[in-house]
Amino acid sequence: MITGYGHFVQLAESLQWDETAIDLTTDIESWTKLEDSEYDQILGLIAGFCVGETSVALHLGSFQSKATVDDAMAGCFEAQARDEARHARFFDRVVGEVVGVPGKNLNERLQVLRERVSPELLELFEERLPAIARGLAESDEELTTAVGLYHMILEGVVLTAGQHALLDALEKLSVPMPGMRKGMELVLRDERWHIGFGSRVIQSADLVDNDLEKILNEGSKAAWAWGDLISSKDIEKVDQLHKRRLKSVGIKFW
Ligand SMILES: [Fe+2]
Ligand SMILES: [Fe+2]
Repeated sequence: MITGYGHFVQLAESLQWDETAIDLTTDIESWTKLEDSEYDQILGLIAGFCVGETSVALHLGSFQSKATVDDAMAGCFEAQARDEARHARFFDRVVGEVVGVPGKNLNERLQVLRERVSPELLELFEERLPAIARGLAESDEELTTAVGLYHMILEGVVLTAGQHALLDALEKLSVPMPGMRKGMELVLRDERWHIGFGSRVIQSADLVDNDLEKILNEGSKAAWAWGDLISSKDIEKVDQLHKRRLKSVGIKFW
């Protein structure tokens, strides 16, 4: 068995950041000056992150409780859950303070934001992920199948595609959004170790060709869940990355 999960826990510790310390003053001023198309794309992507990060933060507990044979692996899921909760809080700050979406908390704001999220994206985060997390809790689901969906598909493809699209869109804006950009870069930095950790879990499992092929095909399809918020060129790019990642973790089968 491949070990070394402790390295990810140490890495997570060294990458901690505080979402309340990010200055959104300039972003608040810039928001009212956005063109309609810019407004729709940025809000659409952020709405997707609010749905996604809230869901992943909520369901990681089932992953942690299933990792009973390896304390360091359980520690990784715990550290990851702390990151995901921070990501959800960061995006909630953006929608509350910059966009001005009404509501006392993220749950209330989500009611408004969900209207901007495609049915495909809602299905992945609000049906597929909860179902697989329930399966883990009821002991009839394998941890590696769940990691295949969460780390390889939802994080490695869907969220990564959205994060790169947001950074790209922010760079092309006519007005500056430095706070949003800073937060997005920090989220991406965390997501890199999450995906690296998930890849390690997959690599150390005895997956067969069929399992890997399923993750491969489903990932390629899931990238399109953002609809026209992301260009097809960017989707292709993230799909290539997904294929390369799976090829490297499943090298003994390819
Ligand atoms: Fe996240
Ligand atoms: Fe993550």
